Amino acid sequence: MKQREQWGSRMGLILAMAGNAIGLGNFLRFPVQAAENGGGAFMIPYFISLIILGIPLMWVEWGIGRYGGSLGHGTAPGMFDALWKNRAAKYIGILGVFLPLVVVIYYTYLCSWTLAFSVFALLGSYPNNVDPSAAMPASEYLKPYQNYLFDYIGASSGGLWLTPEPVAYIFFLVTLILGLWILWRGVSGGIEILNKFAIPALFIMGFILFIKVLSITSPVNPEVNAVSGLAFLWEPDFSGLLSSKVWLAAAGQIFFTLSLGLGAVMTYASYVKRDEDIALDGLTTASLNEFAEVVFGSTIAITSAVVFFGADGASEIAKGGAFKLGFISMPAIFTHMAGGQFFGFLWFLLLFFAGLTSVVALAQPVVAFFEDEFDWSRRKSVTILGIFFFLSAHLPMFLNGALDEMDFWAGTFGLVILALVEMIIFFWIFGAENAWEEITRGAHIKIPRLFFYIMKYVTPTFLVVILIAWTYEQLPGVLAKEDPAVWATRIFLILLLTAFLIAVKLAWKRRGQ
Ligand code: PHE
Repeated sequence: MKQREQWGSRMGLILAMAGNAIGLGNFLRFPVQAAENGGGAFMIPYFISLIILGIPLMWVEWGIGRYGGSLGHGTAPGMFDALWKNRAAKYIGILGVFLPLVVVIYYTYLCSWTLAFSVFALLGSYPNNVDPSAAMPASEYLKPYQNYLFDYIGASSGGLWLTPEPVAYIFFLVTLILGLWILWRGVSGGIEILNKFAIPALFIMGFILFIKVLSITSPVNPEVNAVSGLAFLWEPDFSGLLSSKVWLAAAGQIFFTLSLGLGAVMTYASYVKRDEDIALDGLTTASLNEFAEVVFGSTIAITSAVVFFGADGASEIAKGGAFKLGFISMPAIFTHMAGGQFFGFLWFLLLFFAGLTSVVALAQPVVAFFEDEFDWSRRKSVTILGIFFFLSAHLPMFLNGALDEMDFWAGTFGLVILALVEMIIFFWIFGAENAWEEITRGAHIKIPRLFFYIMKYVTPTFLVVILIAWTYEQLPGVLAKEDPAVWATRIFLILLLTAFLIAVKLAWKRRGQ
């Protein structure tokens, strides 16, 4: 077996895992989910999901990843095959390569918008012909900023095709090339170095913006300040406990933000040492992510939106989705804030760092799959990935609706399936005691035994419930979508999945199994 790469230091590993988890999800998706689901009402299901879903799955993925890595496998096909002596295992595991690839295809494009918008902020090119002190509804106020974004991504016509501005294409290329270059340099020589720089920088920028936002007041009514924004989120409202919609949103957010159910954490964990304290490291990464999410992510985007547009306005904006809050309302707010050019630049640069460190995490499983299962060199693996990546990114770039469709199948639905499979294979087939031993070996902290039972019974049950609820509540709506863009995307996804299934078959045949 050839020597696999390893993280250079424990600090590097933790920062890389933090970079994996901390992403656009923390700063764009979380505020939207929280605002749309009633602020304080969202937070209780959110924290419960963190405890019974997020933390357990985090440990499980670290455990499976380290175990697989010690046997020379960096992705789920090889890992599941080692844990479960069944011919089907490796095919099921392909989700751990397919899903992150689908996500990274659109995620990279989104990430490139943040780079573009940071430059635009610095150049002062956002529209500024709106009078902020004239009381007007949020939608009116935001119109020019919405047009600004829609022009950039070419969505103004609302038709089948998107016609992005050439700069959008250039920013995409820059982001893609940067990501590939880091992957090309490898785990410790590329990914680790990026994160050692980007994550501390991100925390510093987050802190500066956090302090700034705490001091803003409404341009219409100076009495309204950050306290109203904070109250919106932190005044507990127990009604959320009774709403299945709020629960689904909270659990989905926990998955996405912690990078769970996609295979990305397992792949990173496959590069740790055999006796690494994964119990503590897993908990540390989850904590860093939660800090970035509930302190920075929520305060910056939600508080400023509530101060500027009121609680109702903020909820209204959140209904327009992550783009509306991050790319439309934030530029509007920055334009009308002292020093906004600089703070706007900082906000989007922070997003870019958060996004880029997640881009490489999402892409590494494919690279590892090629390297470990086909014995390709890293450079060959990155090159093949790069060509495919470049070509397929045209789908979300030019086809209106492709991005949402990809996000639903991979970023919302697929990850619950993979998470459930992980739990079953690790705790029920490989065996709960073996799994527990894997997770706790080398640990200096003692995980309460209660978590053994949570992982064995509660987490899988919760996942099944989520899956059933989703199937009933969301699937019919998604399947009902009929336009050609949606169908083209589905065909693309099916072909890609088939190609990966064949690849698994070939890889195992090659090794005579
Ligand atoms: N966790 C990242 C975010 O919050 C997204 C991500 C998911 C990255 C899965 C890697 C793997 O944006």
